[in-house]
Amino acid sequence: MKVLVCISGASGASLGLKLYSLIPPSYQRFLVVSESAKVVLQKEENIFLNDDISAPVASGSFGVDITFIVPCSMNTLAKISLGIADNLITRSAQVAIKEKKKLILAPREMPLSQIHLEHMLKLSRIQNVIIAPPIFGYYNKPKTIKDIEMFLIGKWFDLAGIKNDFFKRWGE
Ligand SMILES: Cc1cc2nc3c(=O)[nH]c(=O)nc-3n(C[C@H](O)[C@H](O)[C@H](O)COP(=O)(O)O)c2cc1C
Repeated sequence: MKVLVCISGASGASLGLKLYSLIPPSYQRFLVVSESAKVVLQKEENIFLNDDISAPVASGSFGVDITFIVPCSMNTLAKISLGIADNLITRSAQVAIKEKKKLILAPREMPLSQIHLEHMLKLSRIQNVIIAPPIFGYYNKPKTIKDIEMFLIGKWFDLAGIKNDFFKRWGE
């Protein structure tokens, strides 16, 4: 199975990196980082990554099975909703949609405007597109940011069908 993780320029870009690093070795993994995500990573995490503009994931024939965009900025969300494919992340999203492969979007903004919500509703109506924002639950009693991050990544992996024991499930 091939898994693609895309990081766009919303707050919490490091969450996308953590998700990427936790994908089990049985999966082939690929990473795309937007220009704005680099800025966010520099401001929030002091990390700088190079772009890969000639990646094979831009083609449907490469056969990515699961695409995550974590976090997904409102800019990237809007472009995906409108069918724009002007960079590797938006192109990969269009590929996932046209190939009917799983596309998991984690939009991050607060508050959400009517425009943001309309884009999310439109996309969630498309087969295999899942809107899964970085919203955590209190029911598993997180004590640290790491607890919250593992809960979120565990939920995203569950949606993708990637087995994990990253968080305590309700009733456990
Ligand atoms: C520190 C920082 C935090 C940001 N947080 C968010 C955010 O949470 N959500 C969002 O939609 N945009 C956020 N932005 C704005 C986006 O980076 C900006 O809209 C950018 O054009 C997105 O480009 P991309 O979609 O190509 O990554 C943030 C920008 C900076 C510098």
